[in-house]
Amino acid sequence: MNVENQLAGLKNTSQSALLFEQALEVIASGVNSTARTPRSGWSPYPLFVHHGTGSRIFDVDGNEFIDYLLGLGPMLLGHRHEQATNAVIRFIRERGTVFALPVADEIELARKLISAVPSVEQMHLTNSGTEAVLYALRLARAYTRRKKIIRFEGMYHGFSDSVYWSKHPPLETAGPDSNPVPVPQGPGMPSGIENSLIILPWNDCEALDRTIRERGDEIAAVLTEPMMCNTGCILPEPGYLELMRKLTQQSEIVLIFDEVITGFRIALGGAQQYYGVTPDLTVMAKGFGGGFPVAAVGGKKAIMQLVAEGTVSMAGTYSGNGIAVSAANATLDFLMTPGIYQKLFATSGRLMRGIAEQLDSVGLHARVVGVGPLFQVWFTNSAIRNYRDAARYARKDLFRIWWEQMMKRGVLFHPDAFENLFVSFAHTEEDVERTLDAVKNALPEVKRRMG
Ligand SMILES: Cc1ncc(COP(=O)(O)O)c(C=O)c1O
Repeated sequence: MNVENQLAGLKNTSQSALLFEQALEVIASGVNSTARTPRSGWSPYPLFVHHGTGSRIFDVDGNEFIDYLLGLGPMLLGHRHEQATNAVIRFIRERGTVFALPVADEIELARKLISAVPSVEQMHLTNSGTEAVLYALRLARAYTRRKKIIRFEGMYHGFSDSVYWSKHPPLETAGPDSNPVPVPQGPGMPSGIENSLIILPWNDCEALDRTIRERGDEIAAVLTEPMMCNTGCILPEPGYLELMRKLTQQSEIVLIFDEVITGFRIALGGAQQYYGVTPDLTVMAKGFGGGFPVAAVGGKKAIMQLVAEGTVSMAGTYSGNGIAVSAANATLDFLMTPGIYQKLFATSGRLMRGIAEQLDSVGLHARVVGVGPLFQVWFTNSAIRNYRDAARYARKDLFRIWWEQMMKRGVLFHPDAFENLFVSFAHTEEDVERTLDAVKNALPEVKRRMG
């Protein structure tokens, strides 16, 4: 991509601006998800996309970007992947979409998920990660006959009333570091939910151990992302997931891994395969749908049996619909191709190392943190182990400058430092080299503005 042309192109984002003005009239906030609002970083207005193909997206003004936003995760195979797209078109043309009756393809999909993800002995489809989390919690409460859920500050588990708490709370209202209080995402939550939540700092073995020792017999589940991917990218410290597994097992608490982001991305079997820690229940979405809306909860048969017995009802008009099932079957076929993750890790490893080298070479206090195709750049010198570290020390202002400089050079990712960069199977060596060229040209401006 010619950088000068791209810079010139970006001066002409008038179609996006115009469309956003029109959208504001008829769509509350102008976009259909909070993560696309100016408040979330897309200021003064989000780019309106015309189309995507492979590793690239094109906005309505004709600007082309190497895409590391990837729809916030689902486009793991790249945009309009042939296998997934054709499977969906064929299914719709030849068979239909929704029947309120099962199709045989659901069994095929369940078998693939069970063979791919270590913890999954049985599963159930849903349409979104939010729904799957909601069901995982219901299953855990029904199974243990306990009420409370441990949930970690800085994580996001969807927008249901039961867990849309303490994602990024203002520190003034969030209580002490070692003993945070539940903070709702906003008004409108039914009262009393806070009594069912225990909010803990992540990567804190002592806090987890103390809480489970003192209150283990009230706790139904520990709900966690195995890597924290909704406050930038924070890795579990060595031994932390293992301790979580040990403590939950000892107190008969259901351990739930929310692998909506990590699943099928950092390994076919997700973070549980990568780290070798097997939870009781797993929430899956994004990565296995090839860009189509599908999600699932799965895990130990003993827990999933509550659905079979009719103790826990799992409903959903669109659950297991033909679009979702055909897309997921085709996507998993692709993901099960031998050697494919080595290639993904080679491409993304080159990118992560290249960015890290350039950060070093300009002397910026910054580092790249992540695993393979999932990472973030932290602009800080300080250690970041949990949400509070990130809230206190991450230089969001520098991230913003980097984001602007990269976008001007045709490289797109989410403008919020608490999101991630995603690499797809469609990204090429050439994409990486172009991205690193952009990094090289962008960083001096970040350094200049560092103050
Ligand atoms: C870790 C995690 N869990 C759950 C969700 C909710 O998934 P969905 O947007 O499909 O409802 C998300 C969404 O980004 C997520 O990152």
